[in-house]
Amino acid sequence: MPEQTFLDIRHLEAGYGRSQVLFDVNISIPWRGGVAVLGRNGAGKTTLMKTIVGELASPKGELFFDGRDITRRRTEERVRSGIGYVPQEHSVFARLSVRDNLAVGSLFNVDPAAVDRILTIFPKLGQRLDQPAGTLSGGERKMLAIGRAMLGDPKLLLLDEPTEGVWVGVIEEITERLIELAKQIAVVIVEQHLDLALRVADYAYVLDRGRVALQGAAGEVRSDPELLRYLAP
Ligand SMILES: Nc1ncnc2c1ncn2[C@@H]1O[C@H](COP(=O)(O)OP(=O)(O)OP(=O)(O)O)[C@@H](O)[C@H]1O
Ligand SMILES: [Mg+2]
Repeated sequence: MPEQTFLDIRHLEAGYGRSQVLFDVNISIPWRGGVAVLGRNGAGKTTLMKTIVGELASPKGELFFDGRDITRRRTEERVRSGIGYVPQEHSVFARLSVRDNLAVGSLFNVDPAAVDRILTIFPKLGQRLDQPAGTLSGGERKMLAIGRAMLGDPKLLLLDEPTEGVWVGVIEEITERLIELAKQIAVVIVEQHLDLALRVADYAYVLDRGRVALQGAAGEVRSDPELLRYLAP
């Protein structure tokens, strides 16, 4: 288990109506560094992200963030206390321009210096500031979603498949930015690209049908003979 727990997920259960998806999930996220959440389609990765951010209520279990019990806190409070979230889908406002999407990310207290920092990290966005986000390429859209979440100055950033639908040439660019980011804050990354995930992450959890089936340092998990069985469709 990683030391210096920042987000502590204990005995978490969650699901939709009567269909339970997560079973007794225990996860520790350290103050800094990347943690990967792996697992095949339908394993419960997105459900876990939604439960951490409070979009989905957890009938059982506890969440401690930065030493405080946030289990009953609403999503806005969790975001304000420093949890950023880049969802798998609908991560940008398609009709709003890139500039206005970034304004939403900073909760309208637009600090030009903060926006400039994001544009330095993702220069492609700078050329598209007045373009509706719905007209961006898949990669640009992901960069915008990540940039917007970073404008809220999160201490923990949850990324649900940040390279899904992104052209291979741009995946490397996003990966390098995430590796840099994970040196500064806590990053939780859900990824289908195993190599990418384990470059960003120091530690990995593998979900299998809503349970943590495997966990360990990224290198150990990568070489675990059971890993491919849990990732196979
Ligand atoms: N809104 C919903 N209502 C009912 N069931 C849902 C809902 N969202 C997800 N599920 C079910 O919960 C299970 C876990 O889904 P989840 O989206 O968490 O998986 P995932 O690991 O993120 O998969 P993927 O890799 O395909 O994104 C699946 O069986 C899915 O069908
Ligand atoms: Mg998912």
